[in-house]
Amino acid sequence: MSHSFSLEAILAIARNNAIGLDGKLPWHLSTELQLFKSITMHHALIMGRRTFESLPGILPNREHIIITQSMKPMHGVHNAISVEHALSIAESLAPQKVFAIGGKRIFDELIPQCNAIHVSRIMREFNADTFYDFNFQGYTIEQSHSLRDDETGTDILYQKLII
Ligand SMILES: NC(=O)c1ccc[n+]([C@@H]2O[C@H](COP(=O)([O-])OP(=O)(O)OC[C@H]3O[C@@H](n4cnc5c(N)ncnc54)[C@H](OP(=O)(O)O)[C@@H]3O)[C@@H](O)[C@H]2O)c1
Repeated sequence: MSHSFSLEAILAIARNNAIGLDGKLPWHLSTELQLFKSITMHHALIMGRRTFESLPGILPNREHIIITQSMKPMHGVHNAISVEHALSIAESLAPQKVFAIGGKRIFDELIPQCNAIHVSRIMREFNADTFYDFNFQGYTIEQSHSLRDDETGTDILYQKLII
């Protein structure tokens, strides 16, 4: 399906495919949070209800579309009942880019439709209860650079992948 916006995904994955623990990220990496902020700023975000609940609040200057069948409508965010519904809300908001930001089912359903994937590969293993096995095959690396989170001494490999 073609959209009026660029549909992209953004995710951070540890060496053991960890992405979440106890409803939060398994790590606290300021460098990675800054990267997420700079890439997504002024665009729209599509996320599952648990990912929304993991945020500190509504992220400034970004439209939030939350896929949920249980959450009550809330001021400042858009509720959708499915991925298709989320994409039709995104069309009506007319952003330049829409980012799928997780969790697992959102990635499974939307990554095949995305024209770019931003992956932060966290170069350590973490305890987790949510894992995502992202298949890098078939993508071309458009951008790649290494970052270091100095507070924790953690290396991060950022890659922008295109299909
Ligand atoms: N490392 C990363 O890049 C990253 C990214 C995102 C999240 N996370 C982490 O992953 C965990 C959360 O992810 P998760 O996979 O457990 O949950 P999630 O996808 O964020 O939320 C699951 C909920 O979203 C709704 N939902 C999701 N897909 C749906 C669909 N296709 N149709 C209808 N409803 C749908 C349902 O809400 P209702 O129950 O309300 O109906 C479902 O219970 C947290 O620990 C978070 O910090 C990590």
